Amino acid sequence: MAMISRDSVDKVKDAADMVEVVSAHTELKQQGQRFSGLCPFHDERTPSFSVNATDKLYYCFGCEASGDLFRFVQEQEGLSFPEAVEWLAERYGVELEREAEDPRAEQARKRRTRLYDLLARTSEFYASFLRDSPKASKAREYLAERGLDREVLAEFGVGFAPSAWNQVRDQAQRAGYSIEELRSAGLVQKSEKEGSMYDRFRARIIFPVRDPRGRVVGFGARGMAADSKPKYLNSPEGDLYRKSETLYGIDIARGPIAKAGRAIVVEGYTDVLALHQAGIREAVAVMGTAITPEQLKILGSLAKTIVLALDADRAGTDAMIRAQRVAGDRGVELRVAAMPEGVDPAEMAQAGELERFSELVEGAIDLPTFRVRTVLSRSDLASGTGREAALTELAPVLSVMGEVVGRDDLIREVANRLDTDPSLVSARVNSAPLEPPPRADATQRDQGEPMIPQAAALTPRELKERALFEMAIARPEEGARVLGRLTDDHLSPSGRRVAAWLREHLSAPTEGLPHDDQDFSSLIARLVMAADDQPYSEGAMELNFMLLERQRLEDGISAAREAGDHEESARLSRERAELAERITHADAGLRSS
Ligand code: GTP
Ligand code: MN
Repeated sequence: MAMISRDSVDKVKDAADMVEVVSAHTELKQQGQRFSGLCPFHDERTPSFSVNATDKLYYCFGCEASGDLFRFVQEQEGLSFPEAVEWLAERYGVELEREAEDPRAEQARKRRTRLYDLLARTSEFYASFLRDSPKASKAREYLAERGLDREVLAEFGVGFAPSAWNQVRDQAQRAGYSIEELRSAGLVQKSEKEGSMYDRFRARIIFPVRDPRGRVVGFGARGMAADSKPKYLNSPEGDLYRKSETLYGIDIARGPIAKAGRAIVVEGYTDVLALHQAGIREAVAVMGTAITPEQLKILGSLAKTIVLALDADRAGTDAMIRAQRVAGDRGVELRVAAMPEGVDPAEMAQAGELERFSELVEGAIDLPTFRVRTVLSRSDLASGTGREAALTELAPVLSVMGEVVGRDDLIREVANRLDTDPSLVSARVNSAPLEPPPRADATQRDQGEPMIPQAAALTPRELKERALFEMAIARPEEGARVLGRLTDDHLSPSGRRVAAWLREHLSAPTEGLPHDDQDFSSLIARLVMAADDQPYSEGAMELNFMLLERQRLEDGISAAREAGDHEESARLSRERAELAERITHADAGLRSS
C-alpha cells in the first residue's frame, strides 16, 4: 500500500490530543508544563511517567519507555506505525493522503519479496524431497512411526533437507539468487575453515515456520538421531525470522482460534502437528521459549482466552506472571493447563490419550490461581515456619494481580489453607514488594524478550554525551556551537547518530524522525524530554565537552600505545594532563558558583 504522506502524518500529530490519548491508559495530573501519572508500560505505585503535551512525547523514569504520540499508540494498541496513524486520523478527523512509494522503500520491499520467494521455493523443495526422494525414506518412516500422517505433514509443509552441503545453495544460485540473499534468508552459513558458504540445514526434518499470512519466514530443523546436537536447529534471527514474534502453526490455526475465541499454546512443532491431526485446530507453539509480549499480541488480537499447555514447572515462572500482566492489559485471559511432567501433547496423542489433554485444557485455571496452588501444594503447611515461608512466597504473586476479580477468593483460599485470617493475608499482600522485573541477562535458554523494557546501563561516555545533547537541545544557539566542535572520536556509536541528527534538526529535534527506527526516535524523544530538566550553564556545557575530550584523548593514547607509537602517546598524554588541569579548574568554578 502506498505510504501515508509526511504531510498527513504531521496533520495527525497536530490534531491529536496527547493528554487525551494517554489518559485512556493512565490517569494524568498536570504539573506545570508536564503531565504525570502511573506508567502504563510497567507496574508501579508511585508515578514516574511523564508526558509533554506540546511536543507530544512521553518518558518513564522507571522503565525508560519513551517515544512520541505515534509510538505510544503503537505500543499501547498493538499497531504498526501506519496503523497507528490511521487510528489517530480516524479519532481526530484527519483525512489521510498517500504518496508514491519512495525509491528506497520500494527497493527494500522488493528485496523482502525476493527473500520470501526464496524461502517459499526452498520450503517447497524440502517438502517434495521428503515426499518423493529415496534418500528421505528413513525420515518418512520416522515421521510415520511418530504417528503423523501424510495429510498433516503436507498441510504444514513438513520436509526433509538432503545431507548434501551445497544443494540448496546451488539450486538457488541457478535460479538467480545471490549468496547474500541466501545468507539473509538464513539458508547458508560460512564454513570456518575455508570461508565459503554451505547449506545450513542438512539431513534434518524441516518444519517451515510461517507468519500469520502464511509466508515462510524460517525453518526449525530436527535431527533424526536421538543424540543429534542440537536436537533442533533453527533459522538464525534475521530480517524475516524473529523468533520472539513468531508462533508455529499460526497461519493454519488463526481461523480456528478466532472462531473458538481461544488459543492453545504448546511447546513444540510435533505437538502442533499431532493436535491438528487429531482435530484440535487452535494449537500453536512457542517453540520452547517463554511466551513473549509480541506473541501475546498476535494471539490476543484473535481470541480472548489463551490456554498455555506447557510443562508444569515452566508454566508458573515469573515470565508467565509477567505475561499475565501484558495479557491483562489487553483484556486477554491467560489460563494454564499444566501438563504432567515429562509428557507432551504429541506423546499423549501417540498413546491415544488426547481425551486427557482435552480435559486438561477445559479445566485450565487462571495463572495466579495456578501459581498459588503450586506453592501451596509443595509447602509444608503443617509447620509454622512452612506456613510463613508459603505466605512470603505467595504475597507478591497475589500482589501483582492487582484488584482483579477473584483475588479475594484466592486470598480466602490461602488463608484457609494456612489456617489464618484473610485480613492477615491481605495485609501481607498489600505490603509485598512487587515482583522484580525480569533480568536482561536471564540465564534460561532462549528466554523471550523481557516484558518490561530494561533501562540499559549506559557507559560513562554515553552519560556525558547525553547530558551534553540535552543541554544543546535546551539551548539551541550554544548547542549548535558545541555540536560543531564534537567529532566522531568524542562519541559513542549511538552518540554519533544523535549528533548528526541534532546538527540538522536542533530547533525541532522530534520532527521528521524516522518511523522505521524506533530505538533512535525514542532516544531523541527521551533527550528532548530530559532537556527540560537539564540545568544549563555555559560552564556546565563546556565542562561536559571537556570530559568527552578527555575520553577522546584516552582512546587516542590507548590506540597509540597499542600501535607502539610512543611519540604520539606521549604527545596525547601531555594534552590530557593540560586538559585535566582545566577540568579541575572548571569543576571548582562550577561548584563555587
Ligand atoms: P520431539 O522430540 O520431536 O517431539 O520435539 P519436541 O517438540 O517434543 O521437543 P522438546 O519438547 O524437547 O522441545 C520443545 C520445543 O523446544 C521444540 O519443538 C523446539 O521448538 C524447541 N527446542 C527443543 N530443543 C531445541 C534445541 O536444541 N534448539 C532450539 N533452538 N530449540 C529447541
Ligand atoms: Mn515431543
